[in-house]
Amino acid sequence: MKPNPRTTKKTLKIYWRYAKRYKMGMLKIYPTMAIAQFAEDFAIPLIVSSILTKLAAGKIDELSLDKIWPILLAVVLLELFAHLLWNYVVRTFWRWQEFVMRDLNMVAFDHLSSMSYRFFSNRFAGSLVNQVNKFCGSFERLTDALTWNVYKLAVGVVFTVLVLAPKAPLVVLAILFIATLYVPLIWIYRRQQLPYNIRWSAAETKRTGQLADAVSNILAVKSFANEKLERGLMRERVDEVYGRSMDTMKLNMRQELITGALQRSINVVVIILSVWLAVTGHIQAGVIYLALTYTAAILRRLWDLNNTFRTLTRVFGDAADMTEILQIEPEVKDPDTPEVPKIKSGAIEMINVGFDYPEKKKDAQFLRNFNLSIKSGEKVGLVGPSGGGKTTITKLLQRFMDIQDGEILIDGQDITHLKQDELRKYISYVPQEPLLFHRSLSDNIGYGQTDASEKHIKNAAKLAHADEFIQELPEKYETLVGERGVKLSGGQKQRVAIARAMVREAPILVLDEATSALDSESEKLIQDALWKLMEGRTSLVIAHRLSTIQHMDRIIVLDNGKIVEEGTHQDLVKSNGLYAKLWNHQTGGFLED
Ligand SMILES: Nc1ncnc2c1ncn2[C@@H]1O[C@H](COP(=O)(O)OP(=O)(O)OP(=O)(O)O)[C@@H](O)[C@H]1O
Ligand SMILES: [Mg+2]
Repeated sequence: MKPNPRTTKKTLKIYWRYAKRYKMGMLKIYPTMAIAQFAEDFAIPLIVSSILTKLAAGKIDELSLDKIWPILLAVVLLELFAHLLWNYVVRTFWRWQEFVMRDLNMVAFDHLSSMSYRFFSNRFAGSLVNQVNKFCGSFERLTDALTWNVYKLAVGVVFTVLVLAPKAPLVVLAILFIATLYVPLIWIYRRQQLPYNIRWSAAETKRTGQLADAVSNILAVKSFANEKLERGLMRERVDEVYGRSMDTMKLNMRQELITGALQRSINVVVIILSVWLAVTGHIQAGVIYLALTYTAAILRRLWDLNNTFRTLTRVFGDAADMTEILQIEPEVKDPDTPEVPKIKSGAIEMINVGFDYPEKKKDAQFLRNFNLSIKSGEKVGLVGPSGGGKTTITKLLQRFMDIQDGEILIDGQDITHLKQDELRKYISYVPQEPLLFHRSLSDNIGYGQTDASEKHIKNAAKLAHADEFIQELPEKYETLVGERGVKLSGGQKQRVAIARAMVREAPILVLDEATSALDSESEKLIQDALWKLMEGRTSLVIAHRLSTIQHMDRIIVLDNGKIVEEGTHQDLVKSNGLYAKLWNHQTGGFLED
């Protein structure tokens, strides 16, 4: 994604929306900063300068101990005052930043949560995580730069003019003249840097994406012995980052030759000018010291300003991806005035449904005039060749994606009239790939019903025959399962996923290859439990292993988005179609009972 001025404006708008929620913080920070800066950088040098002037004039009697101690005490008090004020400022500022970043993190998270299934299937999880981090981190860096550099510089210039102008107007003019040349110059330079930084940031995003992809699929990498291939891909990404970074560096250093020279010339001009003015009796000797200290402070900030502008360009480049994502409307939206769910027993009707994956080739809609009706409490098996659309139907039923034509009703109610979370409460789903969190087994099973009691969880685990292996684990139900459940076997993961669905007492049950990773012995055991679970529920069970679904009330054969056969197991075997062929293939031609 290429950030443009519009994106930058949007980023600022989002930051501002949340920053101004904590106005009080800002109101406390900025005035206090100005006071602290005056005490530290201006008042103390003023005192020192008056002493120096007296020294230079040979007025030693005015500097006797009894006369000078109140002045020295004032210095101590001013330092103490400034010290406490800065402490207060930093504390308040820090808290303010954290408040805003907390909100920004939640905004990004909430937005990602609202995105549809398709959004995630098109993106790397690693990149998204990175983009959220950069988006929130950018706020911190932006406000740091603006506060500690830009604001301090502005305050410094204003105070310098106020304090020094009456004493040495020529010096002030010289500082202002060179500074006015300097600021627009680095502004122009900043614009030149922008495309470089954007390219660099894009290369970084690709690099982290590649890293995350390779690391999360490390098993595939190893099993195909493709470490070299992945290393090559990584090397390409890393080299690109290196190249972009070098381009940026070269430009920056070329520009620095000019800006650095300009800064140094301020110093030289101020020294020569103020010494000359003092020698010719136009200013007091102590003013040389004032001019030099104030100039040094301004120079420091000007030097930082260079970095600040560099930070600003990076900050907006970094935030751009997430800002763009925040503009994406959720594809699947809740209705403005959601209906109260009237779902009781979960009769399902798909009427004239038309649906297509936009990514797929366009010769024909994948599902077209698709009709499917499942009575309440009916147990339906869904079979058919791979890619036939079985999983797609379960996703449409849960509204992970929206259909383009027709309607889907549950107990007569259009599912698009319900809030998504309400709808999904009525469905227990075991997906084709069991999705486990890196949390305890008890948390993973209880996920189906977050208020489930320990007993409830254990019961479900027993029914799903997960309890057996869980009891063998060192920490039993408190054992962590590893990222995405890597510490469990495929069959164990499925049992946990089934237990999770069992915990949730929903009228509709959707099992997508829920027992495919189990050996036939365990499958048989779990089948009993699943039959119990299906009792009184509307069930949609997908299986490749046909013995799993042969006793269902009805079996639907799906091929390439169309229902090609339906009926009971016996009917279908007799009719000698696709199902009978699959069945014969799996049983070697013998009819099982
Ligand atoms: N997110 C997606 N984006 C684009 N096309 C998709 C997506 N998910 C599935 N498809 C395509 O839709 C078709 C149906 O896929 P689906 O997952 O529903 O098949 P399935 O019957 O469940 O197959 P299997 O038995 O292998 O699980 C396939 O051709 C698949 O390539
Ligand atoms: Mg599938």
